[in-house]
Amino acid sequence: MVALEAFEIQGPCRLEGEVAIEGAKNFALPAVAASLLTDSPVRITNAPKVQDLHTLVRILQGLGAAVEWEDGTLALRARGVRRQDPPYDLVRRMRASVLLLGPLLARFGRARIPLPGGCAIGQRPVDMHIAGLRHMGADIAVEHGDLVATAKRLKGARYTFPKVTVTGTENLMMAATLAEGTTILRNCAQEPEVTALTRMLAAMGARIEGAGTSTLTLEGVKELQGCTFDVIPDRIEAGTYLLLGAMLAGSRVAVTGVHSGDLTSLLDQMADAGVSLEIGRDRIAVTANEGLAARSVVTAPYPGFATDLQAQYIAAMTQAAGVATVEETIFENRFQHVMELQRMGADITLSGRTAVVRGGARLSGAPVMASDLRASACLVMAALAADGATLVRRIYHLDRGYFHMEKKLQALGAGIRRVTVEGV
Ligand code: UD1
Repeated sequence: MVALEAFEIQGPCRLEGEVAIEGAKNFALPAVAASLLTDSPVRITNAPKVQDLHTLVRILQGLGAAVEWEDGTLALRARGVRRQDPPYDLVRRMRASVLLLGPLLARFGRARIPLPGGCAIGQRPVDMHIAGLRHMGADIAVEHGDLVATAKRLKGARYTFPKVTVTGTENLMMAATLAEGTTILRNCAQEPEVTALTRMLAAMGARIEGAGTSTLTLEGVKELQGCTFDVIPDRIEAGTYLLLGAMLAGSRVAVTGVHSGDLTSLLDQMADAGVSLEIGRDRIAVTANEGLAARSVVTAPYPGFATDLQAQYIAAMTQAAGVATVEETIFENRFQHVMELQRMGADITLSGRTAVVRGGARLSGAPVMASDLRASACLVMAALAADGATLVRRIYHLDRGYFHMEKKLQALGAGIRRVTVEGV
């Protein structure tokens, strides 16, 4: 038995107020990895203090990079990097560690990265990362559970991703910045985090065309310089609080410091579900008074509906009028939250990759277990709507991507506190 943190939540709650949104974890991670591409200092402002970023910082320090974290700014310098073999104990905590592969290989000609193992939300292989780097001339083998990659100097290549991959696009892009010659990547991910990375790499002196489109053309350069770059707002954190505001009767929640243009598919979906929204450029307010209508959704790569908001959307739909189907097309096993929601009284049936949510169920508090990052947020949302007390266990998943969630919710008037419980 070990002591683990959990959330104790007393519902139902009505929320009112504003939430300041953090920088996007999913951009901060590749931005930190990109700092390995140069000897010069890289400053990343608006860096979110979430666990995943702490983990990556520890990995970089272990490789020999200098990292200082002052308020929201990460000052990184990879000049002292002597190792290219991050340890399994840190890498296993976060699949995004694979983002080190491209930069280490491009800059040092070698990388040894423990293979990401099983993952709660599906297989999540890295075959496209490997295939793309092999096209660029890398030798990659698996030895003792590690990906071992070497290359004298990567060579420009053409590669078409068979399927859209966010970190795969980011990895190959970073690798191509220092390769010899031209790289053309097709069927690239177009997530705002990927586009922000193209802008950051360009600020470091990389030559990239096609930012924000599905085809990226990179002309390799000999070396990159440092830069200061601001992390874009976390659209998934913003979406989580907006859906919460929409599902809790009588609530009025505003998110600030956002790019509303990055949230279009969610905002369209919410407007269609009858939610009253006030959309400014960097502030969005939602009012739950009119009640929520059930609306079906299918997850898809950006600009489609984000898989990272699927669990939270299901939580919201449990409180909607009518029946909504939610189809998950990105990951094959991303419905673990459904079983926990059912224990709280939600009426949901699963058939393959589709969840059918019959809204209007009266949820009741129960002890539940978080299984992954976004599933944790979904359980917190359901608990805030439920009658009585809920204990959400294993919130270390949640802390990987949400900064001070309980404090932000308390400020909105929620009955939630962080407690320590015995667990396994
Ligand atoms: C990123 C995000 C994650 C989000 C996901 C999809 C980061 C740090 N994480 O994860 O929050 O849920 O995008 O929007 O940005 N695949 C393969 N082979 C590969 C790579 C991916 O088959 O080599 C598959 C995956 O199993 C999945 C799909 O492609 O089915 C998309 O995954 P991908 O976009 O790569 O997800 P991540 O980049 O890991």
